[in-house]
Formats: sequence, structure tokens, C-alpha cells
Amino acid sequence: MFDATKIKRIAINTGGGDAPGLNAVIRATTLAALERGWEVYGIRHGYRGLLDLDDMMRLDAKAVRGITHLGGTILGTANKGNPFEFPVKAADGTVSVVDRSDEVVANFHKCGLDALVCIGGDGSLRIAQKFIEKGIPIIGVPKTIDNDLAGTVMTFGFDTAVATATDAIDKLHSTAEAHERVMIVEVMGRYAGWIAMNAGLSGSADIILIPEIPFDIDKVCAKVQRREAAGRHFSIVVCAEGAHPAGMDMLVRGPKEAGREVLLGGIGEYVAKEIAARTGKETRSIVLGHLQRGGSPSTFDRLLGLRFGAAAVRCLAEGKINVMVALDPPTVKAIPLNQAIERMKTVPLDCDTIQTARALGVALGD
Ligand code: F6P
Repeated sequence: MFDATKIKRIAINTGGGDAPGLNAVIRATTLAALERGWEVYGIRHGYRGLLDLDDMMRLDAKAVRGITHLGGTILGTANKGNPFEFPVKAADGTVSVVDRSDEVVANFHKCGLDALVCIGGDGSLRIAQKFIEKGIPIIGVPKTIDNDLAGTVMTFGFDTAVATATDAIDKLHSTAEAHERVMIVEVMGRYAGWIAMNAGLSGSADIILIPEIPFDIDKVCAKVQRREAAGRHFSIVVCAEGAHPAGMDMLVRGPKEAGREVLLGGIGEYVAKEIAARTGKETRSIVLGHLQRGGSPSTFDRLLGLRFGAAAVRCLAEGKINVMVALDPPTVKAIPLNQAIERMKTVPLDCDTIQTARALGVALGD
């Protein structure tokens, strides 16, 4: 039975792809926990630090000094090495998976830890839920540039990624216009079109393609040609990595590796080739890639990260465990973690952002 009055030592880990704001969460969680007289440990590289205890670090006020504005994570992260499906390479190079979760549970108790603050996206929080079922008290903190976690209005990292993508789209306008080209920008977001939609609209894209709206390439080309006829000899297409034509699957980068998510990519180049072939316009495509995960977090992400970290400690102190902190303006609330990972949050087709895009004449490929 979890007794909040007996908490002495907690640990923090960061899992999955990094997102701007991770260090703000680590700092706030650490300082708020120290304030209550608890000891804090950082588990390095996702769960690896609980498989190899040399990969744990003590977090004191000095360790988290001056990190709020830094991208990345001082703890390191990993999007492979799920302890429930831990990849093992055989001598012949083949990779299989073994369940090492009991080692994690044993080491958690061996270290005298009372609770774990898991900062992660859907993949890492699903792993966290499995550890809850093995008796580890957990608070989840929603992180991802993709903004695809249900239960929270926003994840931290998203705002910075959208700003980076918007800045790139702004810069592409002048070169697209100078060369009278169609420029296609492929952005991240996995199965959700949040980054593409928000950055595309903010960056005045002419065409935005998202996974939620399978597109018709003829309609995409028709928009380019309408602009051409109106004397606008360039177009900007923002394409989510998960966007796909109706009747065609999402494009993936290579086969799925054991114990990790499949990687999406290639749709920007596909769209560029199709537009060139069908309209005769010169096209270029760029993939923004990991630039969207880099750099200093925006003010919004710093503040959200700090609020999430402090809220995680408040939850523990109030004995609220196995929850995820979530933004529900104007407050940060806690919702059951299993509820948060139940479904993915994609862009609702009737949301006002999509209505805004349509009202401004932005083509969505349907
Ligand atoms: O989930 C965050 C994310 O950046 C996705 O948008 C993207 O599909 C994926 O991670 C890329 O993963 P990796 O860092 O393994 O290339």
C-alpha cells in the first residue's frame, strides 16, 4: 500500500525521442522533491539505468542548475531497450527480444525507491503502465513533439517543434518564389498531423497534408495549377510524415526493428515527384527531421515542463499515483495513466484549425 508520508527517495527517467522541455521537467521535479526532503535519482537512458545500476545518478540542486533552457535531456533517453521486449543480438546477427522487466522491478526495490516519475510519450508511458501493473508507483509526464497523447490539451515539446517548422516554412517562401518552384516540407508527427497543421497554417502553406485526411494527388496538383493560373508561380506544401494518398499505406523507412516503433518517412519526396510529373513544375522536397526536436525549448514549453514537474511531485505528496499529469487550462490535473494511453489524439476533422485552413483556401488534398 502506497503511503505518501513515507516517501524518502524517488527517481526520474526520460524515455522515447527527446523533446524540448525535458530538462525543465527534470529540474522542477527534482527541486520540488528536494523541497519536501526527498532524495532524487535520475535513471539514465530510459530504463537502462534500472538494468545497469551504474547508469543511475543522484540529482541534487547543483545537478539541475541552469538547465531549464537547454534542449535534450541531462539523463539521456532511448527509444529502444523496452525492458519487456529487450533486444538481444545473437552471434549470427539476428535480433530477438527477452523480457527483462523483473530485473527492473527488483532493482527499483533494491535502490530503496518509493516512486518513479516517467517522462515520456505514448511508447514510454505504455511501458510505465506495465510497470504499474507490476507494483511500481508511477507518475507519468506527457512528452512528445507529436502532441498525440490523449488526456492533455498539449504535450511539452510540441510548441517548440511547431515554431521550428514554421520558421523553416517562412524561409522556404523566398527561395520557392525566386525559382518559381513547388517546395514540399516533410515534418514529423508520426500518425498525427498536429505539427503539419499548426506549422503549415502559421507559415502560410498553400497545401497541408495530414494523416487524418488521406489525400488525392489530383486535388493537390489542381491547387498548384490554380495558383499558377492566378500568377502565383510557386507553392508551399507541408506534408506530415504520416500523410498518405487515399488507398495507399503510410510510407516507412525500412523494416520494423525489434523492440521499437517503425519509422515513417518518404512521403514528401513522393509528393514532389508526383507534382513534378503531373504539372511539369519544378519541385524540391526537404525533410525537416530531427531539427524539430532540437534547440532551446520555447517559453511555453519551459513553463509547461516546470508546471508538469511540480505537479508530478504534488501528486506523489497527495498519494495520487499511477496517474499522468495533464494540461487542462487554466490548470494542470492528474488523470489515470491507463486512460491517457487508451487512444491516440489525432487532429479532429471538425476542429477549428481545420476549419480555419479551409476558410483561408488552404488545400488539404480532399
Ligand atoms: O515521436 C517523436 C518522433 O520525433 C516522431 O515525430 C518521429 O516519427 C520519430 O520520433 C523519429 O524517431 P527517431 O528519433 O527514432 O528517428
